[in-house]
Amino acid sequence: MSRTKFCICQCFFTKNLFVNQCKLHVTYLNKAQFLKEYSKTLLSQGCTDPEAVIPEIESEVTRRKNFHKESWDRRLQIAKEYKPLHPHLFTLQKSFLDPKFIKLVDLAKSPGTTIDELTKAVKHHQQRMYSFPVFTPEFCRTFLSELKNFEESPLPKGRPNTMNRYGIHLGELGFDKFITTLRNDFITPLTRILYPDWGGDSLDSHKAFIVKYEVGKDVDLNYHFDNAEITLNVPLNDDYFDGEIYFGSMRTEESSKVTGIAHQIGVGLLHRAQQMHGALPISEGVRYNLILWMRSSAIRNELCPMCNEKPTLIPVENGFGDGFVINEVDICCAS
Ligand SMILES: [Fe+2]
Ligand SMILES: [Zn+2]
Repeated sequence: MSRTKFCICQCFFTKNLFVNQCKLHVTYLNKAQFLKEYSKTLLSQGCTDPEAVIPEIESEVTRRKNFHKESWDRRLQIAKEYKPLHPHLFTLQKSFLDPKFIKLVDLAKSPGTTIDELTKAVKHHQQRMYSFPVFTPEFCRTFLSELKNFEESPLPKGRPNTMNRYGIHLGELGFDKFITTLRNDFITPLTRILYPDWGGDSLDSHKAFIVKYEVGKDVDLNYHFDNAEITLNVPLNDDYFDGEIYFGSMRTEESSKVTGIAHQIGVGLLHRAQQMHGALPISEGVRYNLILWMRSSAIRNELCPMCNEKPTLIPVENGFGDGFVINEVDICCAS
């Protein structure tokens, strides 16, 4: 008997640690290594005391070590205690989706549809980025009222990812089934044609979250790539100013031609997750976006994008981990 277990890569505890004070991603093995490797860079960036950033890094390592267990505990508590405003929202219904999106998915599902036929039916930005309506504006408004209801509740909230400090982890809030249906039944038919080279035909897990930008809190997002194969970004509101998203090259490429794309409520932007991107500051209001990181274990088991090596797998007890998998064999012994 064997069973598949989702995993994280060991580098989660040592690499890509974001130092907010100086907007830098670092590797941290220990104090001596860190100071030897980064003191010069930190000093050149205006950080007068490199040692002073160590507590921030060590607390992020501790947060990461406890993350999966604490996240699962929050999920269980929320499932037990949260009173949804709109319980029907938690199961994906076709009425939530823009009719143009359903038509697009039908086209992708019909046998023989080519990439040219599909890309003609969407807005094609450069560098294999595509946008198309996903949710109706009415769904976005109702969904947002549910999210705000949760935000106002006293229930515990985990930060959405290692860079955004404000937002909601949708798995913890009980939306994993909703997102799995969206991923399997609606997004995969498109990615299978658009990104077969990026696991578009073998997506088997995700991480879904809401990012929130607000003046005085997180206003923008530094240039980065996502820990996933394919990302879908759907704006949920439009009553704010600025905050355009911008894109450069893939993480492994040198050139960095930057393209800006404006947000449009309910309209999803699909891109290769490892294409570098960031968000410009908003100047007024609050911006909410749904971010769906989709992962293919077939791709990432070969190469972890975060350490750029074959991953060192650590199984997680619950959830999708970071989308890597291991097949555990139960050994039976008769004597
Ligand atoms: Fe991102
Ligand atoms: Zn790794």
